[in-house]
Amino acid sequence: MSTTEPTTPEQTADQKNAEQKTEGASGSPLAEQPVAAPADLVVTGVTHEAGRRTLLADVEVRFPAGSMTALSGPSGSGKTTLLSVAGGLLRPTAGSATHGAEPTWTGTGDPRPDVAFVLQVYGLVPVLSAAENVSVALRARGVAPEAADEQALAALARFGIADLGARQVEELSGGQMQRVALARGLAVGAAVLLADEPTSELDETNRGHVLAELRREADRGAVVVVATHDPAVVEACDGHVALDDGRVVLDEAAEAPQDRSTQDTSATDTPATDTPATDTDEAAPGEVPPVEGAPVPEAPAAAAEPETDDDHAAFRRPPGAP
Ligand SMILES: Nc1ncnc2c1ncn2[C@@H]1O[C@H](COP(=O)(O)OP(=O)(O)O)[C@@H](O)[C@H]1O
Ligand SMILES: [Mg+2]
Repeated sequence: MSTTEPTTPEQTADQKNAEQKTEGASGSPLAEQPVAAPADLVVTGVTHEAGRRTLLADVEVRFPAGSMTALSGPSGSGKTTLLSVAGGLLRPTAGSATHGAEPTWTGTGDPRPDVAFVLQVYGLVPVLSAAENVSVALRARGVAPEAADEQALAALARFGIADLGARQVEELSGGQMQRVALARGLAVGAAVLLADEPTSELDETNRGHVLAELRREADRGAVVVVATHDPAVVEACDGHVALDDGRVVLDEAAEAPQDRSTQDTSATDTPATDTPATDTDEAAPGEVPPVEGAPVPEAPAAAAEPETDDDHAAFRRPPGAP
């Protein structure tokens, strides 16, 4: 699986579109441009096997454009694998993911320019500065170097880390790296944004900022999917898909964007009281709602710890990283 932004992909139709966008009459930064052709991200009949293990089993799910969808599930349930398949980093054993009329898998493992990831292990280049990491992603999408540097700083500012722009990434804390990865993912004005546990190292205030920025992406018309263990993040999203052992055990589709105009992005807000109760197994506050007839996920947050730490440790000591 590729963990870096494509730097020299062949010119695809998507990339030509991206370049046209940057050269458009508005001249506005990519991050501020509405999605030209919003479309749902659709995962159809996806099974993925690695060796004898089935990591995803017949997954059918639709992530709507203009909405934030939470993807929850215990550690090891397949969240990262599903995001990887959905965004075209990983070719599934069977089935497909499509955005608009296009499969997201391009045949190379490089995602289309219209797809942006915020990876669980960040995927930053350790020896580049924070600003350079963001700028590289913009340049890869056809933004001229000077404009890319400017937009990179603006993207860092969205996450309150403009002052870290010149710092080498390998000197940053985990939470700071996480925000650089978010800045990079959100700088490019993608039509599909797949964020893998993007708030796992952040305090409540920064989590709130991140959720507000993810909401802005959905409001531009993007598909936003957020893998998370955090009930507050689930609550801030419009839809919720839960995995357990590679299977979808909950699929609560988002409402149409126009039907949730009163919703805000605060992670600490209580849910609207006029939400119709559809069943009796309401979740206690602070819990991801259970699913009728579904296996009960085992203590997700606690189970996540060692794996998350391992991921980060692996990143911080990259073997001969560029
Ligand atoms: N390349 C691989 N080969 C074998 N097993 C893998 C591979 N990648 C992930 N896994 C396993 O697949 C399961 C799902 O992993 P993952 O998608 O990372 O789950 P999550 O993101 O929900 O923690 C885990 O048990 C993990 O160890
Ligand atoms: Mg994961």
